[in-house]
Amino acid sequence: MTIFVTGGAGFIGSNFIFHILKKYPDYRVVCLDKLTYAGNLSTLASVEGNKNFRFVKIDICDRQAVFNLFKEEKPHTVVNFAAESHVDRSIADPEIFLKTNILGTATLMDACREYGIKRFHQVSTDEVYGDLPLDRPDLFFTEKTPIHTSSPYSSSKAAADLLALAYYRTYGLPVTVSRCSNNYGPYHFPEKLIPLMIANALNDKPLPVYGTGENVRDWLYVEDHCKAIDLIIHKGKAGEVYNVGGHNEMRNIDIVKLICKELGKPESLIIYVSDRKGHDLRYAIDPTKIHTELGWLPETKFSDGIKKTVKWYLENRKWWEDIISGEYKNYYEKMYGNA
Ligand code: NAD
Ligand code: TYD
Repeated sequence: MTIFVTGGAGFIGSNFIFHILKKYPDYRVVCLDKLTYAGNLSTLASVEGNKNFRFVKIDICDRQAVFNLFKEEKPHTVVNFAAESHVDRSIADPEIFLKTNILGTATLMDACREYGIKRFHQVSTDEVYGDLPLDRPDLFFTEKTPIHTSSPYSSSKAAADLLALAYYRTYGLPVTVSRCSNNYGPYHFPEKLIPLMIANALNDKPLPVYGTGENVRDWLYVEDHCKAIDLIIHKGKAGEVYNVGGHNEMRNIDIVKLICKELGKPESLIIYVSDRKGHDLRYAIDPTKIHTELGWLPETKFSDGIKKTVKWYLENRKWWEDIISGEYKNYYEKMYGNA
């Protein structure tokens, strides 16, 4: 059985490839990735020599190349992680988000229709539900919460979700969608909150917190997300959406202070910078459906997961230092000046 994993050189996709190759020794995994600034082949070094693994550098918007690969490999399942994934970049320049996240998803699904698959899984985000107020801790996103997006990123992901569900209804394509909360863990690109704060703290650089730092995110260890997707592609029902999250809400400022504590760095490194435009206040997932229907529960407590993550960044300095010294440096200077 061959699984296509798109965006597998990125954060969650790579962790998913490691999970699948370890758990299913008889599966073949083909990773399709364009290797944008966020894709890193060194992330996949540990599976490069695995006979069940193949890497193909491909843009999911390149219809001819995508169709050729489907014809050649005849995948059984496609899991689509490939996306432009950073909200701040989408605010600065939305167009590539529309191309990759919407048209790329449609191209993959057209190939699925042409060549036949057992399952197309769209990896989506809780951000499609917009945000919740800070003073209503009783409210959570369920699968029935209306789509109500804030950023070009979340709007492009919402469009892809709706397209996937439309392909199910119109063409009978066996599609599932998962909407997960914020992930953290190894190989997280150092432009996102947790790895950026770890890397800056280790370099004794300022820790830039947007606005007041009171915005809340619902954090899930990346392996728990990978296990949820594994369950959905094997046991989930076509046409269904599954929310994934572990009821672990934290304010940004508390995360940053915790990282300082873990690394023995002073909180005086924290600086408050201009708020993100349209900044979502709070995300909070109700995971009842995936728990009751598929038996999924998160296994890693945040207190353990953050320790493991900090340890990983300490032990894998070369991975993130190579990134920071490259193209990412230009982006960082544009975002934060010389802070
Ligand atoms: P990431 O930015 O780390 O990785 C994205 C990968 O996609 C990179 O390897 C990149 O090279 C590749 N890619 C980008 N454009 C491509 C294209 N046109 N063709 C082929 N490959 C392309 O992202 P991530 O954090 O691993 O997120 C993966 C998916 O999970 C995304 O769809 C994202 O929306 C979703 N998601 C992320 C989170 C999170 O907290 N990170 C939470 C919920 C959902
Ligand atoms: P991020 O990791 O970009 O994920 P998302 O926007 O998809 O939730 O940001 C997480 C939170 O941290 C979000 O509220 C914005 C905030 N943030 C900062 O305060 N400073 C930063 O430098 C970054 C990158 C994010």
